[in-house]
Amino acid sequence: MAQVVGGVFTSHVPAIGGAIARGAQGDPYWKPFFDGFKPIHTWLRDARPDIVVAFYNDHGLNFFLDKMPTFAVGAAPSYRNADEGWGLPLFKPFEGAVDLSWHIIEALVQDEFDITTCQDMLVDHALAIPCELIWPHAESWPVKIVPIAINTVQHPLPSPHRCLALGRAVGRAIASWQGDERVMVIGTGGLSHQLEGERAGHINIGYDRWCMDALAGDPDALTAQSSLDIVEQAGSQGVEILNWIAARGAMGDHVDETSRNYHIPISNTAAATMLLTPAVAPVA
Ligand code: DHB
Ligand code: FE
Repeated sequence: MAQVVGGVFTSHVPAIGGAIARGAQGDPYWKPFFDGFKPIHTWLRDARPDIVVAFYNDHGLNFFLDKMPTFAVGAAPSYRNADEGWGLPLFKPFEGAVDLSWHIIEALVQDEFDITTCQDMLVDHALAIPCELIWPHAESWPVKIVPIAINTVQHPLPSPHRCLALGRAVGRAIASWQGDERVMVIGTGGLSHQLEGERAGHINIGYDRWCMDALAGDPDALTAQSSLDIVEQAGSQGVEILNWIAARGAMGDHVDETSRNYHIPISNTAAATMLLTPAVAPVA
């Protein structure tokens, strides 16, 4: 039986890719953010994941406004990273965990989620940059992936309630998978940020901290809000927290918060990184 060994949650600001390309990780602007990955690198030595199930949002690269699936699950043998215009170097291609993808797709449809299945799919900075942060300097990725894209771009957006339910259904699918792979979950994007309009640069520290507390201890608390409530609180791109909520759902009921880093700003974003691991002592 496959098991979820942990979940990494992180912002995916494209400028991080520029900093990696320039080797600027130690610069005063970047160091507090990159340092947040040290506990994750230490944890990875024992965690040894084989597969990543990544919840992220596509930014107009693979899906544009003319065709926007609410939930899209990749089932491709490989996923090429393609830059949608940020001027980033292109990152390494990913190998797909095709069998697990199809198992998850079967289980989601059985659970009445009307998903889009993608046997040909590009991925953007929202998937590549978190992996570059998690496995810096890797010659090739040490994991296969199942990418799950959530629409956080074009309204109407799915609700936090629905995203948590999606993640929980994915978690059940992983638990029922016959393989013995070690699965790591990733949720990318957020936290509060708005890139356009009068509120460009909007950041909400109190809300971000509440989200991080709830994510670890009480994810259902996050479902009391609508996606528009999140836009109001966290900014129009802060709604990328939906990816974190889904990823948290895939981890089961009880987790331990193993590390947390919160740093303002990276570009226009309140940058956050968390590592959650399955609870050691079951909660009474
Ligand atoms: C920024 C943040 C994002 O989440 C993104 O997808 C693009 C840019 C930013 O803060 O620059
Ligand atoms: Fe984004």
